[in-house]
Amino acid sequence: MNKQKERQEKILDIAKRRGFFWQTADIYGGVAGFYDYAHLGCALKRKWENLWRDFFIGLNDNFYEIETCVMMPEAVFRASGHLKSFVDPVVKCSKCKTIFRADHIIKSVLKKDYEGFSPEELMKIIKEHNIVCPGCGGRFEEAGVLNMMFPVDVGTGKETRKAYLLPETAQGAYLNFKQEFECLRKKFPLGLAIIGKAFRNEISPRNVLIRMREFTQAELQIFFNPKKINEHPDFESVKEFKLRLFPVANREKNEIMEVSCEDAVNKLGLPKFYVYHMAKIQEFYTKVLGLSKDIFRFKELSEEERAFYNKYHWDIELFLESLDGFKEVAGIHYRTDHDLSGHQKVSGQSMEVNIDGETFVPHVLELSFGVDRNIYALFELALKEEEERIVLVFPRLVSPYDAGVFPLVSKDRLPEKAKEVFRFLKESGFSVFYDETGSIGRRYRRIDEVGVPAGITIDYESLEDETVTIRDRDSMKQIRVSISELPVVLRRFLAGESLGKLGKPVN
Ligand code: ATP
Ligand code: GLY
Repeated sequence: MNKQKERQEKILDIAKRRGFFWQTADIYGGVAGFYDYAHLGCALKRKWENLWRDFFIGLNDNFYEIETCVMMPEAVFRASGHLKSFVDPVVKCSKCKTIFRADHIIKSVLKKDYEGFSPEELMKIIKEHNIVCPGCGGRFEEAGVLNMMFPVDVGTGKETRKAYLLPETAQGAYLNFKQEFECLRKKFPLGLAIIGKAFRNEISPRNVLIRMREFTQAELQIFFNPKKINEHPDFESVKEFKLRLFPVANREKNEIMEVSCEDAVNKLGLPKFYVYHMAKIQEFYTKVLGLSKDIFRFKELSEEERAFYNKYHWDIELFLESLDGFKEVAGIHYRTDHDLSGHQKVSGQSMEVNIDGETFVPHVLELSFGVDRNIYALFELALKEEEERIVLVFPRLVSPYDAGVFPLVSKDRLPEKAKEVFRFLKESGFSVFYDETGSIGRRYRRIDEVGVPAGITIDYESLEDETVTIRDRDSMKQIRVSISELPVVLRRFLAGESLGKLGKPVN
């Protein structure tokens, strides 16, 4: 087994053993590309989603969250272009009849990206390099395309209507835009965010949560006046912020460049409105989540690689060892009026707005995040194997629990006192759990392995002076603080302050 596969196996093993995620319908052998979140995974996912909500919806007072259905009539996808263009290039083995994604099969052999190549171009490369079926060695037949949407029949008999499961949450926002615009007093920019399910019949789902058939997206659609694409009222606040960019031109030399937002506008010609949001995305990863900037980059997509609806398209990528390189976890897309004009044409309903005497079809900037890919990435980046323990170093704010509360021993009134502290922290708004089984060392190891950042222990001294110890998962150092101060101390610790500064060190 190669190193990457080994790491992936390790991630899956801990995820299953401790209750983060596992394959759906496991007792029936599972189906590729479907995963369920178990109790800890669900807690981790919710925390990530809440951080995303707070940060991105918080960018503007006119940004809101909505929730839409995931099944929509065919006309929606005729209008959006998904019926015609949401396709993957495929090849079929002439011997075993297995279907593969053509660009992926070539990449696995030639170790280069072939996204955006036409089926004909891909077939030519397959022939030139004599690439055969990895399963049976058979030759590939002509390449074609397969639509990735899941069709559904809604209703019965004559009333049956053709529908599809949403391949992206975005369409829900476009269909609701006009009504929201009216309800929200016709102000721009207007942001509609959806955290919801998306469905794609991926040809070869793989890499656990990276390529699934049912997955969660967190997407923000920002509707704006295209004439204002070169402005943003807060641009000054980011103009010196250094973006980590990997433009098409740098691919050959494989070099990431750090460019200030101001230079991204002036030298690379990107619009201010776009660049401002790039800065906010990088800030989310490096400041809010606290990930190292070295593993973060924006990758520019070439014209052939861009999604069919995008004018500017940069992917957000994180370096993941188990995937042997940078992997896309999100994207920032300038979709122009592609979607609203499409819906206007097919539905016959006007999508125009009138603001300050000007009438126009709004343009859309989309921030699109795959939640599961982000969860997988956090897991991969967090997993550390140390000499005497396995530890998941999750960013403190997204750990499944904020803290574990433990009596030193399960006797002498310590459990009662510990439960009191547990309840106090719960009432103060923390996600905490209580555990009194096994030695205290074992309990610490248990929370290390599920990534809980703080261990709070109630000992004999606690009964006398109302103080407890807090242990930091990462450094394993401890401090002593009074129970009444615990909420404030814990809050500051979770926000990123180092534990040593928050109380009296315990030797
Ligand atoms: P890829 O090139 O890896 O197939 P994509 O470019 O098709 O991904 P987008 O269409 O831009 O992805 O989707 C937006 C986001 O949704 C992606 O950045 C990713 O995080 C997530 N996503 C897309 N497809 C999947 C999938 N099959 N499983 C899990 N997440 C996905
Ligand atoms: N909404 C963008 C995407 O799913 O690609």
